[in-house]
Amino acid sequence: MKTLIANGTVVNSDGEQRADVLIEDGRVARVGPDLAAEGAKVVDARGCFVLPGFVDTHTHFDLDLGFTKTADDFITGSKAALLGGTTTVLDFATQEPGGTLAQALETWHQKARGSSCNYGFHMAIARFDEATEAELPAMSAAGVTSYKMYMVYHGLRMDDGSIYAALKAVAKQNALLGAHCENWDVLLRMVGEVRARGITGPEGHPLSRPSAVEAEAVARLMRIAELAGTPVYVVHLSTKEGLLEAQRARSRGQEVYLETCPQYLLLTDERYRGAGGAKFVMSPPLRKQEDCDALWRGLAEGDIDFIGTDHCSFTMAQKARGKDDFSLTPNGSAGVQHRGELLCTYGVRAGRITLPRMVELLSHNPARLFGMEGRGKVAEGYAADLAVWDPAASYCITDENPAHACDNSPYAGFEIEGRARDVFVNGAHAVENFALAKPGMGKYICRKGCIHTR
Ligand code: URP
Ligand code: ZN
Ligand code: ZN
Repeated sequence: MKTLIANGTVVNSDGEQRADVLIEDGRVARVGPDLAAEGAKVVDARGCFVLPGFVDTHTHFDLDLGFTKTADDFITGSKAALLGGTTTVLDFATQEPGGTLAQALETWHQKARGSSCNYGFHMAIARFDEATEAELPAMSAAGVTSYKMYMVYHGLRMDDGSIYAALKAVAKQNALLGAHCENWDVLLRMVGEVRARGITGPEGHPLSRPSAVEAEAVARLMRIAELAGTPVYVVHLSTKEGLLEAQRARSRGQEVYLETCPQYLLLTDERYRGAGGAKFVMSPPLRKQEDCDALWRGLAEGDIDFIGTDHCSFTMAQKARGKDDFSLTPNGSAGVQHRGELLCTYGVRAGRITLPRMVELLSHNPARLFGMEGRGKVAEGYAADLAVWDPAASYCITDENPAHACDNSPYAGFEIEGRARDVFVNGAHAVENFALAKPGMGKYICRKGCIHTR
């Protein structure tokens, strides 16, 4: 089966060109002007951009917190991803404190069956001991080449020694370890202080986790990685101060990668005030406008490497668990559908970044860094994971119109200009004219090492 995407403008991280794209057997067979369409289904992309499908480096589908589960599983989450032009997600397979990495991987493979977009897994390590370390080669062989450690959360929080040892062991596999950076001991004390002031609503959430809670943990992670002599990455960076700490580490010669998320670029802590504030309870919390501005600058100037969504969705009924105590609110929010649309509208159209830079952040960098060989570019021989992007398509995000399975979006009220009209996954025409046409076409991406881009 051949498909010709005709008359579009192909955009890669290194620039744009008017070109047709011929898809054959799941791959891009040719990119060039006026390609012959013989025997091919033709998709007219006149007036549209043809982009490499986006990689979401940070999702939590079908995550069980013990007291509740995320609203989205792989079936619903992956459909929402595709409709936004995301053809691959990297979800966090999470080790049970008493379990093995192999068990977590098997569990996540089961959860991901029927996914509509491609998927790979970072492994979240909940216990770093000799047994866990001995499993790393098997993880590499199974295509897991990145790990996350949490400096927070009961049952997941890692001590500094474990992070140090894990960084060294993971680097030996040519894999990469990222960390959720917040100071757990201090923030727990601060939660107590905020509650003691009689603050129980969602406005207490950012008060208990100020910017320095993240910056201290980023600084500590940087020094631990310096001592270990390994690369490291920061997941969901939210603050100007944290960015400065990472930049300091780089100026010492360290290899540091940074991920941020649309919520830290576009939303501020004013959202916690008033009714509906629980929707925005996520960790790290939303920050100040000066943090958003610093992160946008970091994107434009090349300091931030990629953007994930941290999609971790809960309904407002689930969020109501924290109605009398903000610290009981399930942490996380939805966003997997809207990352490209938001970056295009508030990044590219607003003149903060160029379209090739958006492609670099959403497709090229994550595919390379996380070892997805032959993906992340519109180029001959590459997998045909593609988005036909209509810059003229506009709409307003509401709480009701996203395809994800929860009843709210942190981006409700955001006007969008530019969205995916058609999406191809492994060559299959999965989204046609803004609607899901072929669900269930996702494949597991067995990753190979990581390509050091710094
Ligand atoms: O609040 C968040 N971000 N929930 C998801 C888990 C995490 O920390 O990434
Ligand atoms: Zn996290
Ligand atoms: Zn997360």
